Amino acid sequence: MKFPVYRPRRLRKNEKLRGMIRETDLSVNHLVYPVFVKEMSEKKVAIPSMPGIHQFSVDGVLKEIDEAIKLSIPAILLFGIPAKKDEMGSGAYDKNGIIQKAVRAIKKRFGDKILLITDVCLCEYTSHGHCGVLKGDTVDNDETLNLLAKSALTHVMAGADMVAPSDMMDGRVKAIREMLDLHGDYNVPIMSYAAKYASCLYSPFRDAAESAPQVGDRKAYQMDPPNEREALREIALDIEEGADIIMVKPALFYLDVLARARQTFNIPLAAYSVSGEYAMIHAAAAKGHLDFKRTVLESTMSIRRAGADIIITYFAKDIGKWAKENSL
Ligand code: PBG
Ligand code: ZN
Repeated sequence: MKFPVYRPRRLRKNEKLRGMIRETDLSVNHLVYPVFVKEMSEKKVAIPSMPGIHQFSVDGVLKEIDEAIKLSIPAILLFGIPAKKDEMGSGAYDKNGIIQKAVRAIKKRFGDKILLITDVCLCEYTSHGHCGVLKGDTVDNDETLNLLAKSALTHVMAGADMVAPSDMMDGRVKAIREMLDLHGDYNVPIMSYAAKYASCLYSPFRDAAESAPQVGDRKAYQMDPPNEREALREIALDIEEGADIIMVKPALFYLDVLARARQTFNIPLAAYSVSGEYAMIHAAAAKGHLDFKRTVLESTMSIRRAGADIIITYFAKDIGKWAKENSL
């Protein structure tokens, strides 16, 4: 036979053809932009390990969210950093805590112009930096549940549109769901960090959120990176407990887990492209080793292709700008 029968290259000839058979689209509609709000007098403070990312005061955060809205970003994920921390992380469930104040201010200013998702965890608020309360040197699962549920309730009472527990305690989705159904709003969805790994990729975030554990690590509650089947089990449990959206985190090192989750479950799936992914791409681009825009777009697209409906990414504003210029 003289010629190959099949020539996939025929459909790669030009951009119009490639565009027509493209299987995955990247659009700003699927993005969530993480934002840090801190109790402080400065309007904003840069995070050295995360170029372009800042901690904001409540005042400063309004301006940042206004920019996100102008770029048509549909949602933000809000993290709070209190002025004072304590053993019990009491700032997390204080009606007048930083995140509760910020939520009220954001809702008052922007209403439904942006979907406001709040991170529910204790690590930003505890003096020891763990995601729950300590008994000896271990995080006490069941003692933590009620505090997480109370935190979620205060977020919802302040006006949060969705809550996202990131602590990895067993049973927290159920505890939060029950609390919201009884005392808050049964229509507020829960996006659970269902398969969250004990990853090396969180360290820039811990600078931004001031949430590094002061002793030990998070391996006794976050997942062990070599495990995939266990992720399916974690996700199944969160769905049983009432999660509306499930999440795999990090994204890039865990695309296999994301793809398995996509095949296995039919509920909306989120992926968190974490601070370390952001820092790596920025560092390589700053050195001239990688093209910034192409790397951001290809990596974000790969997360979509693996099956994420929702991508939480610090690149949301960059992608939003390129979308406005029609150059995605
Ligand atoms: C804390 C939390 C972490 C992230 C989101 N919530 C870090 C951690 O578990 O230490 C990571 C986000 C990122 O790296 O961008 N519960
Ligand atoms: Zn935490």
